[in-house]
Amino acid sequence: MEPLARQHPAGGSFVCALKGGDAEGADSGPEKGNYFKIICDRVGVRLAMSLRALRRDSLAGALRILSPVSRRLLGKIAIVTGAGGGIGRAICLAYADEGAALVCGDINHEAAHETVAQIKARGGRAAVVIGDLAREQTSLDLIAAARAEFGGLTTVVNSAIRDVSYLPVTELPLIEWQQSLDVNLTGPFLLLKHAIPVMIEGGGGSIILIASQLALTPKPGRAWYSSQKGALISLVKALAVDHSAQNIRANTLSPGPTADQRFFSQWPNEAKAHEHASTLFGRLGTPAEMAAGAVFLASDESSFMTGSDLLIDGGYTAV
Ligand SMILES: NC(=O)c1ccc[n+]([C@@H]2O[C@H](COP(=O)([O-])OP(=O)(O)OC[C@H]3O[C@@H](n4cnc5c(N)ncnc54)[C@H](O)[C@@H]3O)[C@@H](O)[C@H]2O)c1
Repeated sequence: MEPLARQHPAGGSFVCALKGGDAEGADSGPEKGNYFKIICDRVGVRLAMSLRALRRDSLAGALRILSPVSRRLLGKIAIVTGAGGGIGRAICLAYADEGAALVCGDINHEAAHETVAQIKARGGRAAVVIGDLAREQTSLDLIAAARAEFGGLTTVVNSAIRDVSYLPVTELPLIEWQQSLDVNLTGPFLLLKHAIPVMIEGGGGSIILIASQLALTPKPGRAWYSSQKGALISLVKALAVDHSAQNIRANTLSPGPTADQRFFSQWPNEAKAHEHASTLFGRLGTPAEMAAGAVFLASDESSFMTGSDLLIDGGYTAV
């Protein structure tokens, strides 16, 4: 039987492998032993994670890990950039709850460490890398941490964003254009340049680049933002073309206006921010609603999805 998706040594997609052929076929020969080993590995990973949580006095975390509820990212190893931000942190916490191990990257030391502390308090596994995504060394450090701490890499989420002035191109200084481009487009290029070979080595994986609804419907003064987010939507299509044969999936997730510090900072107060959300629900989305989409894209539930954009914008672009 040919498994639908190749297995990552750290665990991965047992359900997916069963779907790939005749389940009865697993009753004979080496296949049976293989499934038995995968089940043992998974039980072992869960027990080890649970004990780690208990050692940190987190009984709730230990019980959550042992819960029979399906943990959709068990065995996944994810790098998340912008992990200290509103959406990045929500993604890290949701991934940890679903069983993934995390490498949390951010330029903001305090914010990244706070995310890691929250993951560990829930019984999850996380390492931290502080650095500027515009620098190639930061990408190398993120990947080295994933290998050293967790033994590989299955998932890359790029959520970091370098904001610059909200000005039309006629007024935006070249230096600001370049600064934003270096982080928002060259950053993920550098990360993926080095991450993809490691993902291939482990049997494949999922790339999720956080774009924006503003790639489709620009607002005044955001030419730099809309064009860089639009480029990410094109980039995942190109990655899908180049790497689907190696079992790499690449998609963007485009949030609509989302209730976090970055969004609120544009308004005098939170009520005003919700008032101007321009969604069909009359409110902002939550970071957790965006994270739910990122869990789907990282999980085997989205195994037939690549080169696509998952738009979660409360109908912002529908009208
Ligand atoms: N919040 C929204 O309304 C909204 C809407 C659409 C799309 N998005 C996208 O979602 C993603 C996350 O946004 P957010 O609201 O969580 O923003 P945020 O500002 O809360 O988080 C961004 C994080 O990126 C980090 N960062 C900035 N420059 C960096 C650099 N050079 N190297 C490494 N890290 C760096 C920041 O320290 C911060 O922790 C962004 O890509 C953003 O464009 C957000």
